[in-house]
Amino acid sequence: LQTSLLPPSQRLASNPSKMPPKEQLQFGRVFSDHMLTIEYLSDKGGWQAPKIGKFEDLKLSPAASSLHYGLQCFEGMKAYKSVSDPSDLRLFRPELNMKRLSNSMHRLSKPGYDFDRKELIECISELVRVDQDWIPTGEGYSLYIRPTVISTHPYLGVTTPSSLLLYVITSPVGPYYKSGFAPVRLTTDTEYVRAWPGGTGNAKVGGNYAPTMLAADEAAKRGYDQILWIFGPNDEVTEVGAMNVFFLLRKTDGTKELVTPPLTRGDILPGVTRQSIIELAQTWNEFEVSERTITLPEIREAAHENRLLEAFGAGTAAVVTPISCIQYKGEDIDIPATGDLTRRVFKDLMGIQYGRIEGPEGWSVRI
Ligand code: COI
Repeated sequence: LQTSLLPPSQRLASNPSKMPPKEQLQFGRVFSDHMLTIEYLSDKGGWQAPKIGKFEDLKLSPAASSLHYGLQCFEGMKAYKSVSDPSDLRLFRPELNMKRLSNSMHRLSKPGYDFDRKELIECISELVRVDQDWIPTGEGYSLYIRPTVISTHPYLGVTTPSSLLLYVITSPVGPYYKSGFAPVRLTTDTEYVRAWPGGTGNAKVGGNYAPTMLAADEAAKRGYDQILWIFGPNDEVTEVGAMNVFFLLRKTDGTKELVTPPLTRGDILPGVTRQSIIELAQTWNEFEVSERTITLPEIREAAHENRLLEAFGAGTAAVVTPISCIQYKGEDIDIPATGDLTRRVFKDLMGIQYGRIEGPEGWSVRI
């Protein structure tokens, strides 16, 4: 990538007058004025010069292999504006998103996956600076950033693509769920699976999401917001699709443990928010923080013994979302109302993201 981007005098005009009042923002429906595009062309030596131009429809061959074989991967990031200083714009641990994008590209056999991550962060930062008037102010509001890499290779043979388009669009957002910080209800009762060992569950590819929509529709008809995907004969917890999950348990010896399923089997997306919550909670040194297998029977037993204290989902879009119920084998396992830990994780994480609280070195990156 070459980062010889726009000299400041050529800054593109940004006009956020189309942006609805922030209270009316719905996730991912309105887009800012500009987008970043970078082509990869094998026959021209790989990555071409990045461009920031107006947000517009793509022109794509109907034979492009992204449209036929799912050669598509993406990222979810956010840009935050400080409440006290609107010139203070920040990204949150962007290098983790770049690493995951590279891994997702590699998993889909896309060339160019070893792109220069720092340069792509700089290109994205410039896009955010150009459209900074689109960043709604206030904690809980941000500019959602969607880097996407598609194959543009016009070839119906099933093969590694030789041309790609990396593009980045941005969208002003508030809370992901209509309910805001209100709890969501999950169900594990579905005949479908999201991911399996050796599959793509740990890569951020569109192909992980398409097969979950039918399941989600069926769950919604039964009154649940999302599916909590479980795996294997022991009904191990994996993730929700749009979020990773955490459980606060009181162990039988009376001590507390914050548990999230481990990434080892390769069927769970390595969330940036997930990793940050683990690291943050470890610094508090107040309870055990475990990445370990947790099954639905264990969760059910803990709930029946009043030892399931809190449960929440975590993701870039979802931030921290309390969970109030998990349906398992027809039973609604109820979880106490949003607890102190869920609120504290939410507040501290947001504080760091918006620059209100000093976080660990390198987490909140000023751009
Ligand atoms: C994110 O949290 O950024 C996601 O990509 C989840 C979802 C909106 C697909």
